[in-house]
Parts: sequence; C-alpha cells; structure tokens
Amino acid sequence: MNTLTYSLVNHSNVSAEQIKKIIDLKKQHWNYGEEEHLKWISQNINNNDYHLMVYNNVNNEILAYLNLVEVFITFDESLPKSYLGIGNVCVNKFLNRNGLGLLLMQITNFLLNQLNKEGCLICKPHLHNFYSKSNWIKFESDFYLDGLIVSNAGIYFSTKISSKTLTLSKNF
Ligand SMILES: CC(C)(COP(=O)(O)OP(=O)(O)OC[C@H]1O[C@@H](n2cnc3c(N)ncnc32)[C@H](O)[C@@H]1OP(=O)(O)O)[C@@H](O)C(=O)NCCC(=O)NCCS
Repeated sequence: MNTLTYSLVNHSNVSAEQIKKIIDLKKQHWNYGEEEHLKWISQNINNNDYHLMVYNNVNNEILAYLNLVEVFITFDESLPKSYLGIGNVCVNKFLNRNGLGLLLMQITNFLLNQLNKEGCLICKPHLHNFYSKSNWIKFESDFYLDGLIVSNAGIYFSTKISSKTLTLSKNF
C-alpha cells in the first residue's frame, strides 16, 4: 500500500490542477460534465470554504474527497449558528469498501476539532451505517431547507443536537 497524505485547502488557494483532479473523482459518482461540475463549485463554494483531499503520495492522485462549506442553522427559535456543512463525500470507486471513506471522515472529525467547528451533513438512508461508524449522530426530528420539510434524506451532526426542529440556510 502506498503512503497517503491529506490536504485541507481553502477554496481561495485551490489550484486549477487540484480542481481538475477533484472533478475527475466526482465524475466517477455524479454523472455531470466537467462544465457543470465547475459551475456547481463556483456557485456553491465560497473562498473561505475548504476542500479536503486524501492523496496517494506516489502519483499525487486524489483518492478521497469532500468539501466543507459554511452554513447557518437555526435551531427552534434561536439565532442562526455557523456550521461546516460536509458535502460531496467520495472515494475512488476502485478502492470502494477498503476503509478509505472512514479514514476521510476520521480526518474530518480531527479537523473540525482543530478548527473549533461543528459539522453537519445530509445523506440518503442507505449511508446511515457509514456515518454512524464515523461517529456522526442522526438528528431524529424534522429539518427544513428552502422552507420545505426534507423527507427523503437524513441530517447528521458531529455532536449531539437536542432541539426539536432545525432550518438550514442552504444546501451543500
Ligand atoms: C460512501 C463512500 C464515501 C464510502 O466510502 P468507502 O471507502 O467505500 O467506505 P468504507 O470502506 O470506509 O466503509 C465503511 C463502512 O461503511 C458502510 N458503508 C460504506 N459504503 C456503504 C454503502 N454504499 N452502502 C451501505 N453501507 C456502506 C459499511 O458498513 C462499511 O463497512 P463494510 O465494508 O465492512 O460493510 C463511497 O462509497 C462513495 O464514494 N460513494 C459514492 C458517493 C456518495 O454516495 N457519497 C455520499 C454522499 S452523502
């Protein structure tokens, strides 16, 4: 097995070469063309948001990726609170089910701690085990996005949340 390394890069510092490699990996899982991926990134990732990449040291290939974007969450009637929203979690499909996804999430947990931030993510029900094994906790009540209740996906947090409802400022 080759040595792996991780890199956390602010969007303002990401290179065109890194973006190309990120898109190549995302294209394995989400069937959009290069232009659409580029457009999504420019519309949804701000300069202060982050890209997290796990590299193969030997050939510099990105094996696992996710982005961390600032989102605001309103719990019950409280004021909106800043979170890092984890999105586009993916692993090179040729290394599927080898523990790389869990490694990526462990690095994410470490970085959230270092950044003194809490994280949230949205996922489909079949990934419940994956995020539970990553020590993320499912929010069991209703959550809202764009004024609508979300019923086809779950929201998970890096720390336990005890409010009754929550509203997300944006998707990620
Ligand atoms: C989801 C994903 C990141 C997991 O990465 P991975 O490296 O394959 O996962 P791991 O090997 O670390 O999995 C650890 C455990 O999580 C669970 N798990 C992982 N992927 C799963 C899946 N697709 N379905 C159900 N459970 C899954 C399993 O319990 C697994 O343990 P096991 O292999 O011993 O059964 C990867 O499959 C992927 O890139 N999927 C496509 C993109 C995607 O759907 N991303 C999620 C967006 S919310």
